[in-house]
This record gives sequence, structure tokens and C-alpha cells, in this order.
Amino acid sequence: GWSMSSFVASQDAALREQIGDRHVVCALSGGVDSTVVAVMLHKAIGKQLHCIFVDNGLLRLNEGEEVAAYLREHFDLNLIHVKAADLFLSLLAGVTDPEEKRKIIGRTFIEVFEREAKKLPGVEFLAQGTLYPDVIESVSFRGPSAVIKSHHNVGGLPDIMKLSLVEPLRELFKDEVRKVAVELGLPDFIIWRHPFPGPGLAIRIIGEVTPKRLDILRRADKIVQAELQASDWYRKVWQGFAVLLPLKTVGVMGDDRTYESVCAVRVVDSIDAMTADWSRVPTEILATISNRIINEVKGINRVVLDISSKPPSTIEWE
Ligand code: XMP
Repeated sequence: GWSMSSFVASQDAALREQIGDRHVVCALSGGVDSTVVAVMLHKAIGKQLHCIFVDNGLLRLNEGEEVAAYLREHFDLNLIHVKAADLFLSLLAGVTDPEEKRKIIGRTFIEVFEREAKKLPGVEFLAQGTLYPDVIESVSFRGPSAVIKSHHNVGGLPDIMKLSLVEPLRELFKDEVRKVAVELGLPDFIIWRHPFPGPGLAIRIIGEVTPKRLDILRRADKIVQAELQASDWYRKVWQGFAVLLPLKTVGVMGDDRTYESVCAVRVVDSIDAMTADWSRVPTEILATISNRIINEVKGINRVVLDISSKPPSTIEWE
């Protein structure tokens, strides 16, 4: 609409003015927010923008690669793809505490990002997809940007903190970011992508994160995504995903007894993630999700539905 096209135009002018002929580094996550930031900056300053995409090995099936491929194909963008899965997974080995997982992932993200950013000559700005709810409730936001911000007050300031921040979305809510994405001509698979936490699948695997459990969760999660997308429910809900529990139960497959993991399905409605309610997804869709996961994903023999609201529960399980 008109208001979003004027937003895009005024931000474009403001970005050109703020940045001039200097250089900007941007952490691309594969989500709609950072993708919109990257595209806005690319339009404003072109090759003065440098995007870094860190694959931490905790992403969903093909996520990240899809967005990176799209950007490479449609925009002549400086994009560095860092494959750091082995590093993250080795540091997470044996770790079960949720906050410990988050700290390791946040710290490692900054280290990897900073190492790459340092290779770029003369970068003066750090662009982030900070939204309005992140600004007003920065404590509840636990993403890479928050991790970077929280380092402001800690000793041994990383160099990346010396950069000035560029946050063109800081006055917007998620639905407005999606309107900006439409205005920029981005495709539906980016516009409607559900939010995904910085620590990724690590906080949806309760207990230790191992390559095997990541593989199981990825395959279960893909089914949740696919079945929501096959109906119009994917766009109606805020977020839908699978969680792998550190709990085995007995089942039966043909003539055999099985003893495998439980998977929880979490689908929520929300406006800004500060509050949420479990989505009343039609039971036929839930039945298909459950049947497909149990039949197709080796390692899971039981599916449960999370019917908790936020508060007092959170959207993520860790
Ligand atoms: P919670 O679990 O706090 O999640 O109800 C609220 C929203 O934030 C997302 N989330 C995160 N996003 N980094 C992020 O970028 C994080 O560490 C993180 N933790 C939670 C979550 O997916 C939900 O949309």
C-alpha cells in the first residue's frame, strides 16, 4: 500500500544519507527480517553492503540455502556463506542446559561473524533486523542481535561493537515487515516464512543436541511445515514446529515392539510473540501430521500436541 511504499522510499533516502560511501556488514539469517534489511540496503548502497550468512548446523532442512540462493540469483549481493556446523556441534556436545546451549551458540555466532567481518576492509556499520517489539522488550528477545547488544555492558568488548548500528525496521511490527517485503517484491516463501530462533533447532531438542537427533527433528519438522503449507494454515498461524523430547515410549510397528522418542507439535497464534495461544488447527491436519511423522520418521513413535498459551508457557520449549 501507499504507506509502505513511502516507508521504503523514506528509509532508502535515510540509509543513503546515514551511510554515504561507507561500508556495512549484515548478518543474514534466512528469515524475513534480515532478508528485508539486506534487500533495502542493497537497493540503497549496492556493493557497499556485505552480508554474512552463518550456517551453524542448527537450521531447518534447506533453510538458509534457499534464501541465499534466491538472493544470489536476484541481487548482485556480496554474500559470504560460512559453513560452521562442525564447530557449533562440537561445542554443544554433552550440553543439556538450555541457557548453556544459548550462551554457547550466541558466543560462537559472534566469534564466527566477527572473524569474517574482520576480513572485510573498512566496515563501519552493522545492520540488524531489529523490530519494535525487540526494542521495547529487549530482555525477552534472545536472538543474535540481542546477544550482540548484551555484550555492550560486558568487559572485553568485541570489536564488532565499535560499529554503528543500522536498524531500518526498528519501528515496525512483524506484519508491517511483511508488507515491506511485499513492497520490495520478495517472493512468498520469504514473506510468509515463520520466525525461527537464533539458536535454531538446538532449543527444540530437549537434552543433548547430536547430529542424529538433529536429523530426526529436521525430518519431523519438515512434515509439520509441509502439512501447514498444504492448507492455508501456514499463513494463518504465527509459528508451527516440532520439538524432540528426551523421552522414549513403547509403541508397536507390525509385529514388533518399538521403543522410540516422543515428538511434540507446537503451533501458535500471536501478533508480536509477547503473548501467544495455541492454534486451533483442524484435527484432520493434526492427524495427517501425526501419522506422517510416525510412519516416515525413524526414531519417533509417538506425537503429542502442545496446548499451552504464553504466558505462562513460552513459545519455544527452552
Ligand atoms: P519465546 O520462546 O520467548 O519466543 O516465547 C518468542 C519468539 O521469539 C523467538 N525466539 C527467538 N528468536 N533468537 C531469536 O531470534 C532467540 O534466541 C529466540 N528465542 C525465541 C521464538 O521463536 C518466538 O517466535
